Amino acid sequence: MNPASALVVVESCWGNTATIGRTVADALRAEGIDVTVVSAQDAPEVVPATVALLLIGAPTHNMGLPGPSTRRIAATRGAPTTGPGVAEWIDQVRLDGTPQILPFDTHVSGFSGSAAKAIRRRLRTRRIDARVGTGFLVAGEPPTLRPGETERAAAWGAQLARA
Ligand SMILES: Cc1cc2nc3c(=O)[nH]c(=O)nc-3n(C[C@H](O)[C@H](O)[C@H](O)COP(=O)(O)O)c2cc1C
Repeated sequence: MNPASALVVVESCWGNTATIGRTVADALRAEGIDVTVVSAQDAPEVVPATVALLLIGAPTHNMGLPGPSTRRIAATRGAPTTGPGVAEWIDQVRLDGTPQILPFDTHVSGFSGSAAKAIRRRLRTRRIDARVGTGFLVAGEPPTLRPGETERAAAWGAQLARA
């Protein structure tokens, strides 16, 4: 693929999805790709045509994407981050080019929904196609990434860079 540049847009309440995003970004950089990581709150309204690879990540909430009510629940459980996220960003973003789009998420179990699938569906409502996403496992309260998941994220990033 060898993209000119990559953009990673993440939403994260406790920081796990952000860690995955940064890890994938580091792996892409190690292959010579210019990568920017931003939270959905700070993500650009227009994705420039120079972005050839767009990764969008969010934690799975209620089988799908976080929204105002699930973010409030996370805040009551001590999550430091709330505010508008990936869902709101997708609803208004404009793409200047046609980047390859890859969703990713974090979740507690493979059987309890996927924000990555929800990202793909939400993009479809805007007639934007994304590839099938990837998920990473968390456990505990507060949630932390399960052993091996950051390594898996690094391997995924390296694989994307070489594809
Ligand atoms: C309100 C709420 C709803 C959640 N619903 C789900 C769910 O449906 N499925 C799941 O696997 N995990 C669920 N989780 C766990 C989150 O996926 C987990 O907190 C998240 O992956 C942690 O990532 P973060 O540190 O980036 O926020 C939920 C968490 C919260 C706060």
